[in-house]
Amino acid sequence: MGEAMIRGFLESGVSHPSRLSASVRSSARATALSRLGVTRVFQDAVKSGGAAALAASARVIFLGVKPQGLPEVLAALAPHVGPQHLVVSIAAGVRLATLEAGLGAGVRVARVMPNTPMLVGQGASAYALGSAAGERDAALVHALLSGVGMALHVDERCMDAVTGVSGSGPAYAYMMIEAMADGGVQAGLPRATALALAAKTVAGAAAMVLGEGADGALDLTHPGVLKDRVGSPGGTTIAAIAELENSGVRGAFMRAVRAAAERSAAMG
Ligand SMILES: NC(=O)c1ccc[n+]([C@@H]2O[C@H](COP(=O)([O-])OP(=O)(O)OC[C@H]3O[C@@H](n4cnc5c(N)ncnc54)[C@H](OP(=O)(O)O)[C@@H]3O)[C@@H](O)[C@H]2O)c1
Repeated sequence: MGEAMIRGFLESGVSHPSRLSASVRSSARATALSRLGVTRVFQDAVKSGGAAALAASARVIFLGVKPQGLPEVLAALAPHVGPQHLVVSIAAGVRLATLEAGLGAGVRVARVMPNTPMLVGQGASAYALGSAAGERDAALVHALLSGVGMALHVDERCMDAVTGVSGSGPAYAYMMIEAMADGGVQAGLPRATALALAAKTVAGAAAMVLGEGADGALDLTHPGVLKDRVGSPGGTTIAAIAELENSGVRGAFMRAVRAAAERSAAMG
């Protein structure tokens, strides 16, 4: 995910390789980031005592390790972060209070739930701010995330639900696209044709829901309204919808989102 963010920041132009430092564990990942052009790649800075140099090289520090690896990273960084830093965690389920306790009182922190379509500039991220972070921090996080998709400021209480909808959500959409393509193949389409049609249909339908106002702001249309416009009486679409309703698809999606949100809450 961290690499996806770096790629997104670079491809969208919101950052430049010369302004980025990264710390990773393996030489394979270090090589991958160097190939992206990241100028300063620290290898195992946390264990090798390089956290001071890492912190000195950055004003905004993104933490992209797994939640269980975070305590070690926070402990290594804590002596070296100060008022000049904004620390942004993308770890699922890890609370702002945990970040603040690990880094020390007064450190400006933010918690972000990104998702992988960020890699192609189509991310859906939500962020919440710690008690010491201010409007300028919000604007900075917003600008960085907006460069690689949509960014929404939410109350931290919403973060587990955000994880269930958008953090884990790309997987649900991939399953839907795969299943639609399978149906197309079953109905006689070549695999590549079915997959392309299914993926573009999902992307196009999402664009219809999202819309866009004159100033670039979201102009949401209720999906039920759009769905009703597609289903003509006695037609093909309503026949398909009846099958989906009989299969309990809506309930399955709702339970999936809730399961992910509950898992996120349990990880905190
Ligand atoms: N995957 C998603 O779709 C998604 C979505 C939203 C949020 N997240 C969050 O993003 C975080 C990362 O998830 P992921 O799936 O990207 O995990 P991942 O592929 O395992 O990536 C973790 C990265 O952290 C590095 N790392 C681990 N320990 C380190 C240490 N002590 N010092 C420096 N670097 C260290 C790893 O380096 P090496 O590769 O060299 O070991 C690796 O590059 C998680 O907290 C997750 O909750 C993920």
